[in-house]
Amino acid sequence: MTTSKVRTFNGVEIPAEGEVIQFKDGKPITPARPIIPFIEGDGIGPEISDATRRVIDAAVSKAYGANRRIVWFEIFAGEKARASFGNSLPDGTLEAIDHFGVAIKGPLGTPTGGGMRSLNVTMRQRFDLFSCVRPVRYYGGVPSVVKRPQDLDVVIFRENVEDVYAGIEFEMGTPAALEFIALAAKHGHKIPEDSGIGIKPMSRFGSRRIVRAAIQYAIEHDRKVVTIVHKGNIQKYTEGAFLKWGLELAAEEFGDIMVSEDDLWKKHGGKLPEGKILLNHRIADATFFELLCKSSTFSVIATMNLNGDYLSDAAAAQVGGLGIAPGANIGVHCALFEATHGTAPDIAGKGIANPCSLLLSGIMMLDYLGWEEAATIVTRSVEKTIRARTVTGDLARYMKKATTLGTSAFADALIANMVKPRRKAAPRKGTVK
Ligand code: NAI
Repeated sequence: MTTSKVRTFNGVEIPAEGEVIQFKDGKPITPARPIIPFIEGDGIGPEISDATRRVIDAAVSKAYGANRRIVWFEIFAGEKARASFGNSLPDGTLEAIDHFGVAIKGPLGTPTGGGMRSLNVTMRQRFDLFSCVRPVRYYGGVPSVVKRPQDLDVVIFRENVEDVYAGIEFEMGTPAALEFIALAAKHGHKIPEDSGIGIKPMSRFGSRRIVRAAIQYAIEHDRKVVTIVHKGNIQKYTEGAFLKWGLELAAEEFGDIMVSEDDLWKKHGGKLPEGKILLNHRIADATFFELLCKSSTFSVIATMNLNGDYLSDAAAAQVGGLGIAPGANIGVHCALFEATHGTAPDIAGKGIANPCSLLLSGIMMLDYLGWEEAATIVTRSVEKTIRARTVTGDLARYMKKATTLGTSAFADALIANMVKPRRKAAPRKGTVK
């Protein structure tokens, strides 16, 4: 960033016609022309990013005419940043996200091993994006491996900065690893000396705020069940504590609205009273089983980092795969929306990638900005286009009589299928505000 009159990030001037989103009590106040930085991403990133921005622009224009417009501002990360700035995550990119508060990004490659930290994890930690929100629902016509994929409609709130993802690890044989092994021995725990050590921190503050975010979401979106998922039967002082702190928080801050599973049966004969939300809890392994076998019993899940990582991909697989699963990382004054799949190097540059994951993340972003009408236009267009079996190759492959479109042609079809809703859209299930 320079000190010249026009502010620049990575040497690029910010667009004069746009405005910066402000935040009040953790919620964005969206101007008519918000500047939104975007990172194209590596591999298929540029293709899906271009399609996503085109579709979002068309929906915003359809919803609000000339009254509202997103002013996109490119920022750089990954290979493109390395080529231009010699750094895969330049300071200017981090400063821009910090400054504008809301950004959308394509996938970024992370070399396996070699000690390079994932750029995604770095950004989550840097901006304290504590809440990873993954709505998982079915779009009619998408091929799925289960018989009733439409039964699953769940929004997973995954704690995003603690747990084993805090990245506190010590390599086998290093002085720090040996020190931890000695400390454990002092407390009566024998760990073999040839062990690597990983630390799993889980704080009361961090646990409470993710459970709070999940409950608030359920209230705002009229969802009737919040399930805390944990492995507290084994990890008592981390995952078990997460459950305890979550229940405490619910009782303290939402006691008038939340009903425990016990009370549901003891006091209400198994029927949830009008206006109330059921707060239950499940062990992580049982949750995988129940997501498959009793899909419709879940609505909002609050869980910690590792469980949430596994669960959200498993749930996405149930409704047709990662190619259409969106994601958002939300903090108090910052929100980063992203595709949940990777850079797909095997199909990069071929113009055949499915832009839905990034696009549906864009819908979450529109909802987050309070532009629900535009979000609804895109959602309905995605539903209509997929139902018409006009899809990208990854989906067409498993559908009967499908028309295969390239990324750009699929975006054109989405735009052509957009219809302006007659009435103001009510908040919908499966979207994030
Ligand atoms: P991947 O998700 O890139 O690809 C897995 C398979 O899914 C491939 O066959 C690919 O062609 C297909 N695929 C993925 N997205 C698709 C789309 N939009 N349309 C059509 N097909 C699609 O996973 P992989 O190969 O394990 O990872 C590649 C790179 O991506 C790695 O460097 C990894 O670290 C990175 N990655 C980045 C993520 C992020 O930025 N959020 C998330 C996951 C992986």
